[in-house]
Amino acid sequence: MLKIENLCAGYGDMQVLFDINLNVEQGEVVSLVGSNGAGKTTLLRILSGFQPIKSGAITYLGQDLMKVKAYNRAEIGISHIPQGRGILGTLTVKENLIMGAYPKKYRKTVNEEIEKAYNMFPKLRERQNQLAGSLSGGEQQMLAIARAHMIHPKLLMLDEPSLGLAPIVVEEMFEIITRVAKEGVSILIVEQNLVQALSVATRAYVLETGRIVMQGAAKELLDNPEIQKAYLGI
Ligand SMILES: Nc1ncnc2c1ncn2[C@@H]1O[C@H](COP(=O)(O)OP(=O)(O)OP(=O)(O)O)[C@@H](O)[C@H]1O
Ligand SMILES: [Mg+2]
Repeated sequence: MLKIENLCAGYGDMQVLFDINLNVEQGEVVSLVGSNGAGKTTLLRILSGFQPIKSGAITYLGQDLMKVKAYNRAEIGISHIPQGRGILGTLTVKENLIMGAYPKKYRKTVNEEIEKAYNMFPKLRERQNQLAGSLSGGEQQMLAIARAHMIHPKLLMLDEPSLGLAPIVVEEMFEIITRVAKEGVSILIVEQNLVQALSVATRAYVLETGRIVMQGAAKELLDNPEIQKAYLGI
């Protein structure tokens, strides 16, 4: 459903991504792993339309994604949870969910959608009138996923969802992500933590200073001696 071909991009004269080839199929959970500054966030920002490309092509559900304006990408099913979660701390949980349904076609059914979100994440129902900024880190990430889910995304992108979360909360969150994928949503997760990224994904790509240096089934990558040496210190 998503196909990135020979993509090059950067900021001004500085090239950050080199010849990226990556694809995501429907209902698949794909991880993009790489250390600080590798270019992971840049790639997600390109997919959301916040960042231009220098060359290459991105096809999303058969259409040229670069021709779709950033503000129209939510309408075609692209939802992005930015690094740091991007929820609005001074608004309540419920208000954040309402914000998630901003594309026109979802506004009429917003109450139904909120109800669905509460059924999916009962904790959010309990805390619907609480300011989002006062939620725990795990609850904030849950709210970010629920909010992104309000538009029924076809492609959900998460930028370092496990950052700052306790391992048990990360596990819970990855269960939620797996549940969302089972609905047929394709998921692209960016992570620095290789073990976590590979535990939730079916396939993964390893990005090093803007280049994909390895890719494959998550299990195979975890067993790969080169990966173990470079990332796990084994
Ligand atoms: N707005 C910007 N202007 C100029 N350079 C930028 C900008 N944003 C990012 N960069 C540079 O692009 C490179 C890739 O950054 P990016 O944020 O995509 O990395 P990342 O893989 O997401 O890293 P992290 O794991 O730390 O979030 C870095 O060298 C960074 O300094
Ligand atoms: Mg980043």
